[in-house]
Amino acid sequence: MSDALNKARAYEQAHLPEIPAEKQPMYHVTGGVGWINDPNGFSRYRGEYHLFYQYHPYSKQWGPMHWGHVKSKDLIAWERLPAALAPDTESDRDGCFSGSALELDDGRHVLLYTGVRKLSDTDEVQTQCLAFGDGVNYEKFAGNPVIDASLLPEGGSARDFRDPKLWREGDVYYAVAGDRAADGTGTILLFESRDLQHWEFRSIVAASRGRFGRMWECPDLFPLDGQHVLITSPQEMPESGLDFIEGNSTLCLIGTLLEDKTLREEHLQTIDYGLDFYAPQTLLTEDGRRVMIGWMQYWGSVDAAPAELPFFGQMTVPRELHVRDGMLIQNPVRELEAYRRNGKTFENVPVSAETTLPGVAGRCADLTITLRGDYRSFRLSAVKGTYAETVFTYDRESGVITADRSKSGFAPEIRNTRTFRVRERKGKLKLRLLLDRYSLELFVNDGEQAASFTVYTPLSAREITFAAEGTADLNLEFYELEVPGNGKAL
Ligand code: FRU
Repeated sequence: MSDALNKARAYEQAHLPEIPAEKQPMYHVTGGVGWINDPNGFSRYRGEYHLFYQYHPYSKQWGPMHWGHVKSKDLIAWERLPAALAPDTESDRDGCFSGSALELDDGRHVLLYTGVRKLSDTDEVQTQCLAFGDGVNYEKFAGNPVIDASLLPEGGSARDFRDPKLWREGDVYYAVAGDRAADGTGTILLFESRDLQHWEFRSIVAASRGRFGRMWECPDLFPLDGQHVLITSPQEMPESGLDFIEGNSTLCLIGTLLEDKTLREEHLQTIDYGLDFYAPQTLLTEDGRRVMIGWMQYWGSVDAAPAELPFFGQMTVPRELHVRDGMLIQNPVRELEAYRRNGKTFENVPVSAETTLPGVAGRCADLTITLRGDYRSFRLSAVKGTYAETVFTYDRESGVITADRSKSGFAPEIRNTRTFRVRERKGKLKLRLLLDRYSLELFVNDGEQAASFTVYTPLSAREITFAAEGTADLNLEFYELEVPGNGKAL
C-alpha cells in the first residue's frame, strides 16, 4: 500500500471513532471526516452496494482527491470502509477524480477513474485509469492510463476529459466520459473495449453545442422504460427560467440511442430543483431498479462548512428512477420505508392560521402531505426553532414553490432561495419531505420533481408547521426515521 493511502487510512482510524452520532446525518452518506464531492463507483459487488466518493480526508475543503468508501445491504444503512484510492502513481499524482465501478466475472471489482497529472500551474492532463480490488483493497493497473488523449475525436480536450461511467453489454465494455469540443462546450464521448485495457472511441453520444454551460461533467447513460437517459452535470450554466440553477447545474436528456450510438434528444430537463444537487450516478439493483445518488451540495457554497461539524458534503438519499410521459421520475428507494417508526396520519385537517399537529416534529422524518381545498397559498415550515426555519411556500396562482433556507445556518451571501413550477393533479398537490439532521429533500407528486437542500440549523430546531391563505384541506402521513447504528461518522 502506498504511503499516501496508508496516511489517509491512519487519519481515518485516528479521527472517526471520536465522532458522536449527532454530528453526522442519520441516513445520508458523508465522509465522516473531511470533504466529499461526487459519488463514484456506485455499484453492486458480491451482493452488496458499494459507494465511493471524491474525498479529501484532511480538511473540509476540496484538496488532492482520494476515493472514500462505504457499503450497504439496502442503500440506507451504510458501513464505512477504509479509503480506497489515494493520488500516488504517475498517472494520478495530482488526483484520483471521479469514475465508476463494476463487478467482473472473475470476482474482482474494477474501478475506472480519472487520473490527473499537472503539467504546470495552469495546465494538466486527464486520463482514464483502472484499479482492481476485492471490495476493500484496490490495486492500480500497472498499464495505466488505459484511455488517453490519443483516443479523443478531433477538437477534443485532453485537459477536460473525465468521469468515466463503465458498464457491460454481453462481451463488450462501454464507458461514457465528459469532454469539451473545439467550441469549448461539453460533449459526452462513448468508448468500447473487450478487455478493459484496450479501448476505442465509438461516438459522440451528445454535445452541448453552446446550449448548456461549459464542460459536461459526470455523465451516465442507461436505458429506462423503453428510452435512453443521459444525465450530466454542466459547469458554468447561466440561470435559465425556473429550470436551471446558475453555476454548476444538472441536465437530463431523454431520447433514443440510435444505431450509430448517438442520442436523438426528445426531451430535456433539469434533474433537481433544489439548491444542493450535483454529479449524480446510477446503478441497477438486483431486481432491476435504476437507482441514482447525487452529491447533495452546490459548488457555490463550498466555503460554507459549519465549524462545529467534522464533515462537509453529503449524498442524497438514493432514488429510484423511471421515465413517465417522457419525463424523469424520482422517488426515494423503497428500502427507506423499513426504517419508519411511530406512524401518524391525519385527514381533512383545515389549515389557515399557523398549525402544528400532535407528534409531527423532528429532524429525522418522512412526511407526506396532500393539499386540496380553497386556498391561495400554502406554507410548510420545517427545521423550525428560535430564529430558524426552512420554508416551502406554494403560490397557487403562479403555480410555483419558493424554497427559502435563509434561516438555516448558512451565511446570507450563500444562495438560499430557489423557485420552481409545479403542477396540481386534479386539484391536488402532493409533497413528500425527507428530513435528516442536515438536509431536506422534497418530492413533488410522487416523484415528478425533486428538490434537495442542505441545512445546518442547530438540532434544537425541530418544529414543523403548516399555514395557508384561505383554507387548505390537508391530509398528512408522518413517520420518524431511525436507522439503528447509523449516523455515527457515516
Ligand atoms: C464534479 C467534478 C468532476 C471531477 C471531480 C473532481 O464535481 O469536478 O468533474 O472528476 O469533481 O473532484
